[in-house]
Amino acid sequence: MQFLNFEIKPCKEEDKEFFREKIDEISDSIVPPAEGAEDEYVFLKITDDEDNILGGCIMEIDSWKIAELDILWVDEKYRMQGLGSALIREAEHVARENGCYAMTLRTFDFQARPLYEKHGYKVVGFIKDWPRGHENYSLMKRLDQPSPEYVPSKTCVYGVRPANGEDADIIDDGLGEYNHSQVPYEHEFIRLNKKVLDEDGNLIAGIIAGVQGWNCAYIEMMWVDENQRNRGIGTYLLSDFEREAKEKGAYMVIFDALDWQMPFFEKHGYTVTGTLEDCPKGHRWCQLQKLL
Ligand SMILES: CC(C)(COP(=O)(O)OP(=O)(O)OC[C@H]1O[C@@H](n2cnc3c(N)ncnc32)[C@H](O)[C@@H]1OP(=O)(O)O)[C@@H](O)C(=O)NCCC(=O)NCCS
Repeated sequence: MQFLNFEIKPCKEEDKEFFREKIDEISDSIVPPAEGAEDEYVFLKITDDEDNILGGCIMEIDSWKIAELDILWVDEKYRMQGLGSALIREAEHVARENGCYAMTLRTFDFQARPLYEKHGYKVVGFIKDWPRGHENYSLMKRLDQPSPEYVPSKTCVYGVRPANGEDADIIDDGLGEYNHSQVPYEHEFIRLNKKVLDEDGNLIAGIIAGVQGWNCAYIEMMWVDENQRNRGIGTYLLSDFEREAKEKGAYMVIFDALDWQMPFFEKHGYTVTGTLEDCPKGHRWCQLQKLL
């Protein structure tokens, strides 16, 4: 192989930032971000009079003004009382105030697809057997188009407020525990991040990826320096990751790609499980899968 002199090493956290910047540079040159916009997180919570968290959500807003509801969780004792709906409504309100035109999310069959559909979300993607014996759905709602307001039979008597990072950890843990109670995780997240250095020690490629607790492998990002492309480095990194993930017990890889990133992954046997049309504007956000 032409890159035998290169060194392949595990990745550090700061390398991840470097890859993120490189990938953003490419993406921003294809679809410029909204003026002054940066990726940001929004944390919302509902508390009782003693400030105990009864539920909350975590939303990510990207610089193309697409919002993603990452986490939604209500304490078991307070479910079916309208709290989840109040959080969804407020998240949508904050997203619109921030100029977002779409909200996306993923939900498992043991979570809340019917609730989101009541709020006007449409299924745009589907993964069979994630986790094994279950299904995962991707849903989307346009925030720039009219949608009938859904009012649950029980309306929430508490207000939704901004939350901080510590609250967000409680909300994140709440959902994590719920998921584990439905389908136990088999292990902690296994990181399989790798970077490639050239003869002079320059960082020229990398993959940020791993295997989550239900043995589904996940690629967060992959990058090869422009001057080093078409030499087999990406193919090597991807194949090596798939091999290692399989050795660790993974049965499937999932990856979210933008339409301009698709040809490489299609060549390597990835198939589309979902499509977010017009995300970012004029493009498609594709959800990919490969069975190992
Ligand atoms: C999903 C969750 C956040 C919903 O919160 P909630 O406060 O119970 O939801 P609401 O009270 O606002 O629900 C309103 C309506 O949706 C329905 N609904 C809520 N959750 C539902 C679910 N999981 N499945 C089916 N219907 C559901 C309710 O029956 C109610 O219907 P109706 O008033 O029209 O008869 C909460 O159940 C929860 O935390 N579950 C565990 C974690 C989870 O699955 N999070 C979602 C991750 S994607």
